[in-house]
Amino acid sequence: MSQNLDKLKEKLAEAHKGGGEKRIAKQHEKKKLTARERVEYLLDENSFEEIGILVTHRTTDFGMEKQKFYGDGVITGYGTINGRLVYVFAQDFTVFGGSLSETHAEKICKIMDMAVKVGAPVIGLNDSGGARIQEGVRSLGGYADIFHRNVKSSGVIPQISAIMGPCAGGAVYSPAMTDFTIMVEDTSYMFVTGPNVVKTVTNESVTSEELGGASTHSTKSGVTHLTAANDIIALEKIKQLISYMPQNNQSAPEKLPYELGDEHREVLEGIVPDSSNKPYDMHEVIKGIIDDDSFFEIHKDYADNIIVGFSRIGGRSVGVIANQPMSLAGVLDVDSSKKAARFTRFCDCFNIPLLVLVDVPGFLPGTDQEWNGIILHGAKLLYALSEATVPKVTVITRKAYGGAYDVMNSKHIGADLNFAWPTAEIAVMGAKGASEIIFRKEIAASDDPQNKLAEKEAEYAEKFATPFEAAQRGFIDEVIMPRDTRRKLIKAFSALENKHVLRPNRKHGNIPL
Ligand code: COA
Repeated sequence: MSQNLDKLKEKLAEAHKGGGEKRIAKQHEKKKLTARERVEYLLDENSFEEIGILVTHRTTDFGMEKQKFYGDGVITGYGTINGRLVYVFAQDFTVFGGSLSETHAEKICKIMDMAVKVGAPVIGLNDSGGARIQEGVRSLGGYADIFHRNVKSSGVIPQISAIMGPCAGGAVYSPAMTDFTIMVEDTSYMFVTGPNVVKTVTNESVTSEELGGASTHSTKSGVTHLTAANDIIALEKIKQLISYMPQNNQSAPEKLPYELGDEHREVLEGIVPDSSNKPYDMHEVIKGIIDDDSFFEIHKDYADNIIVGFSRIGGRSVGVIANQPMSLAGVLDVDSSKKAARFTRFCDCFNIPLLVLVDVPGFLPGTDQEWNGIILHGAKLLYALSEATVPKVTVITRKAYGGAYDVMNSKHIGADLNFAWPTAEIAVMGAKGASEIIFRKEIAASDDPQNKLAEKEAEYAEKFATPFEAAQRGFIDEVIMPRDTRRKLIKAFSALENKHVLRPNRKHGNIPL
């Protein structure tokens, strides 16, 4: 008996050494924490319970039977973040470069299965040289076992991926199928094929960082939702992110205690400029509406003509989607439509109400957009907002033109409450463009076409560049003073708390992908 006790102690001590001191020192030299340090930092103190610490691989090829490390390159288990249960896996780069073997994959699958059974989020900390080369197809099978679970868990429990080192080849597809990805700047990269293969196939010379570093994926591809300057900041951001979501699709996000006070915010009155063509920062509007310092922006540097992120309004977790007039006048284009559609679907999966702030002059015109499928991508956002059954509230601050009016959470596609500021312009298009079309003959026949155009423009603006026609029809429930917006929204989301929508049975809809 005591022999086994000693054996266990020995084995556990060995497991805690990972790939050994030298490799740990190398990891630290690269300014990376070890897998174990990451898990310890992420979870509440002493809350981590490890599962499968004594697992080793079963490979006998290439002399592998002589190289065994307890844990087989991944630390798995569960613990709490601010008291909430989460399941975690952290790949250990010091053991076979964190590469994924059959057993390594089995460990990850085990905790993914447990997380779904109990309804708790899964957080994956990726740092891996990819498929365990010595294992061939067994390791590829392991990846696919994980992918399949990612899909089965999607919309059931939140899944978050941190990329904290290499993530290449097939390895990229698990993070890509999770809800949120965060990449650490300078020390992480993601690509389906590395710079050498790229050089051979396309003759392009590119560095790992350019091809798939954090800045590339946060600005150009949108593959990552968040970035962090180092491991610690990445782990902090995960803790923050998780605070806005519920444990699973059957529960609601935590509501912080809140008492309705004087919610008037005079600052909101002065934000929209007098001239309808002047930009303003929609972040100021968001800040004026939500609880102090509660905005957690997603995809901050990607498609910044739309803003998406989590916030709290009267203590409630609310997903915000807002056109940003400061960038491309806030138009909808391919990237912004995809970005907002994806965010909408996350919020809808996990019972997070949506606030949509609208100042949109329409869809971005041009061959680039048409040839890249703006029709399909714009339809994604339309579909996602239409399909969402969480409480949905809209505030039109200024422009809501054309098809974009419909798309941006209009009453017609199922928004619950639609507000507009007196500065709202709800029309088929801007007054100038509209007048040039419908009064073309009258303007051409005039002695002074310029003057005539201005006159007709004013006439059109008077009729349609306001919220009143829409309010008369009930498309807008209430035209509100900007200063009252926060109060209205707190009450609206409270009133909508028990919203329940029954839908006809179907396998799933067919969102235009
Ligand atoms: N399978 C098995 N072992 C692997 C591995 C893999 N896919 N990737 C890395 N390793 C091992 C290395 O052999 C090395 O072992 P050692 O500590 O016993 O020497 C250790 O992990 C660290 O790798 P190293 O190459 O020294 O680290 P690096 O930081 O210089 O480079 C990579 C990291 C990921 C760029 C590099 O290891 C690599 O290119 N790996 C292969 C990637 C790949 O093609 N994967 C398969 C397809 S998905």
